[in-house]
Amino acid sequence: MSTSDQNNSALDDEVSDETSQEAEQESDNADTLVDAKDDRKTILIFGISSFVGSNLAQFFKEDFRVVGTYHGNPVKVPGILSIPCDVHEKAEVQLALFAFRPDISIYCVGIASVFDCYKSQQKAEALNTSGLFNVAEMCQRYKSQICYISSSYVFGGDDKPYIEMDIPDANSTLGKTQAAAEFYIQKTSLNYIIFRCSRLYGRSIHPIRKNFLEVLQKRLRQGQNFICDNTVVNGFLDIAYLAMVLKICFDKNVMNRLFQLSSSDALSYYDFSKQYCEVFGDNSELVVKGKWPFPVLSAGAGGAISGDDLFYKMDIGNLEGFLNIKMPTIKESLAYSYRRFGGKVEEDKSSKKGEGITFI
Ligand SMILES: NC(=O)c1ccc[n+]([C@@H]2O[C@H](COP(=O)([O-])OP(=O)(O)OC[C@H]3O[C@@H](n4cnc5c(N)ncnc54)[C@H](OP(=O)(O)O)[C@@H]3O)[C@@H](O)[C@H]2O)c1
Repeated sequence: MSTSDQNNSALDDEVSDETSQEAEQESDNADTLVDAKDDRKTILIFGISSFVGSNLAQFFKEDFRVVGTYHGNPVKVPGILSIPCDVHEKAEVQLALFAFRPDISIYCVGIASVFDCYKSQQKAEALNTSGLFNVAEMCQRYKSQICYISSSYVFGGDDKPYIEMDIPDANSTLGKTQAAAEFYIQKTSLNYIIFRCSRLYGRSIHPIRKNFLEVLQKRLRQGQNFICDNTVVNGFLDIAYLAMVLKICFDKNVMNRLFQLSSSDALSYYDFSKQYCEVFGDNSELVVKGKWPFPVLSAGAGGAISGDDLFYKMDIGNLEGFLNIKMPTIKESLAYSYRRFGGKVEEDKSSKKGEGITFI
């Protein structure tokens, strides 16, 4: 056994031996890396180097004490302390929880692409599901709320708006690994919140790891065609909306809930890109209809198979009713993004908003 294995197994023993009462006492006595005089809630973001994690960190740093972990890509979010952590190493996860004593831990580690998950099934399972087990266990021990960011791909792609109560019937590796994570948290955690999200877009913190929106913007800027999938339908939201809704939930101390978060409508990447061009004033002729690979593992409940059009539409009535808010359409979300990125947008007289979430 290597020294590091021995250390890990020693720590495992220690973890299982201690009662949660002892852990609580230990947590009250020890020095921490956070300022005790600052009475804002502490949020620990596992995977602060991710697209989702880095954006959430930027949004939350005004209202919360934000700290984070990265794995292979050290990132510097101004004003935010981050430390390395491999979610598969229990000792490292424990150290992060022990050092920061977060009120809330957001799990932003994972692989978000359907194709990448299919290509690397073991890695997808390890990051989207198994890594979460360590984090959820330590959250329980240090009394931190665990927040998991799932996706609409837990469903099977049938042409209907899925509700929270529908049983996940994923037809992709991504969906299966996320459905397993949702199930695990709901069964084992005493304090969780899960957000099942549509596609989220925005800017990445990583200079090389470009996301869909950044590739689209680059192609359009260079006057190049961009072939976009027209067979898979999803909601699309500016990542800022996830941050806004999470903040409302954290402020209200919402516990043990699973919410679906999406634009109020759904489009294919092709139609989304066309709407993007309309709002951002780009040349929509460059957006070309196509089909991206979407490896379907097995039929969903309605029998969607490889080659069929797939629909990942989620009903958001539960979230809107619970928080008394109205989520935007994709076009309204894009108009908000345009402003956020520094542009000005023509007011759509038929729309009542375009700026953040509407409270009703
Ligand atoms: N993007 C979306 O539209 C969307 C929608 C719904 C849900 N989600 C979920 O949100 C999460 C983040 O997605 P994303 O698109 O932001 O991902 P991303 O940008 O690809 O980032 C992946 C993250 O995982 C970290 N990571 C990889 N291996 C690790 C390990 N062994 N230990 C600890 N961290 C490790 C990476 O750290 P390093 O870079 O430092 O190595 C990085 O922070 C995923 O679970 C995804 O399924 C995303």
